[in-house]
Amino acid sequence: MKKNFKILQADILYFKDDPYLNKNVNNYLHFYKDGLLVIEDGYIKDIGDYKDLITKYEHVTINNEYINKLILPGFIDTHVHYAQIEMIASYGEQLLPWLEKYTFPTESKFKNKEYAKKISSFFIDELLKNGTTTAMVMGTVHKESVDAIFQSANEKDMRIIAGKVMMDRNAPVELLDTYESSYIQSEELIQKWHEKDRLHYAITPRFAPTSTPKQLEMAGKLKKKYPTTYIQTHLSENKDEIEWVKSLFPKSENYLDVYDNYGLVGDKSVFAHAIHLEEEEYHLLHKKGASVSFCPTSNFFLGSGLFKIREMKKKTRNILIGLGTDIGAGTSLSMIKTLSEAYKVTSLEQNTTTKREPLGAFEAFYQATLGGAKSLALDDKIGKLEKGYEADFIIIDFEVDDLHKLKMDTIENSKDTIFEKLENKLFSLMMMGDDRNIISTFVKGKQVYKK
Ligand code: GUN
Ligand code: ZN
Repeated sequence: MKKNFKILQADILYFKDDPYLNKNVNNYLHFYKDGLLVIEDGYIKDIGDYKDLITKYEHVTINNEYINKLILPGFIDTHVHYAQIEMIASYGEQLLPWLEKYTFPTESKFKNKEYAKKISSFFIDELLKNGTTTAMVMGTVHKESVDAIFQSANEKDMRIIAGKVMMDRNAPVELLDTYESSYIQSEELIQKWHEKDRLHYAITPRFAPTSTPKQLEMAGKLKKKYPTTYIQTHLSENKDEIEWVKSLFPKSENYLDVYDNYGLVGDKSVFAHAIHLEEEEYHLLHKKGASVSFCPTSNFFLGSGLFKIREMKKKTRNILIGLGTDIGAGTSLSMIKTLSEAYKVTSLEQNTTTKREPLGAFEAFYQATLGGAKSLALDDKIGKLEKGYEADFIIIDFEVDDLHKLKMDTIENSKDTIFEKLENKLFSLMMMGDDRNIISTFVKGKQVYKK
């Protein structure tokens, strides 16, 4: 059978390690100024400088429409609610009243299978337009909502992780399941979708207040029975929420301890927000190899608080972090805009134990690519552009308007080194950019979006 072969010529960048922790630029990134990316049957077959590789591929047609543009691994969004896309930008509330007033009524529409299909297909197209090639997605309490999102992702051959919300108390009755039905339906979904093609299942108790102890116990039982599945939920997002959890689970030592008591904290667990943590919670996240999703646009929008990236990355802890857009509390599906807000949060972080170290551009793009892949335990497959990796990547145009052009010219004409120029360009991109800068998205070697 003839192999599906593709070669692109462009600047190419990917990360090998966290630039915040590994300070040597040659150890944490690979950058090819004028490189070639060779793809065969959906995988990276070769990568290198144009001048070194060209003799090897002389007889193959090279796609050179992206010369001077930048190839990056696809972005990874580690926390997002697809069913909330239509209620983005709903005014004025903090977490708990926001759930009551906007979220629950919207999610109740997803009982309708056709509606779920329509929104999931729209959502996947929006992800791709924003350069996001992998996401960890919360569905709604309805099994149909999860069938729909897996189907839509699979049509594009995307690697995604998703799950049915488990919720058997403290929500409107039409949105409640029971501990038995949530177990049965989650298991059916696991058997149907988990590890089919590029799909993975995440057991998804919404958050501690909307599950009875019995339901959390059932979630733990499922995880034990299907150990390769993920856990996704929310943790310590809002102070009223934390007080509520303490009153509902008085015997637990802290919020994370509630989940831990039911076997829900492990190396495939992703906790969204994790803003107001106690010291013991940091230790437990580290000890269990669990990860957190930093959702800056959402944390600002709901007035939830400031995520402490430097606390998370202390040498003794080094908790895995991914970035989440958290639509619909988040205000954009763009990972570039998310990085801009992440920078602002980290520039406010300063206390007695950590000095002021706002998110750098290399660290930011690491977090949005390989860092996200690590936090989802997928870094052997995605997040890099090494030989053998799955060919999920995007093409960035730095110069989408006059101001971007002026800024890029200024950087290019400076006396900085090649790495400094690259870092400054990426920083300008993350502060000023958005979906306009994504000119193409490839999933498993196939172009699935073109501007
Ligand atoms: N906590 C429980 N449910 C939700 C949700 O839908 N969005 C956010 N941001 N936090 C939550
Ligand atoms: Zn969320």
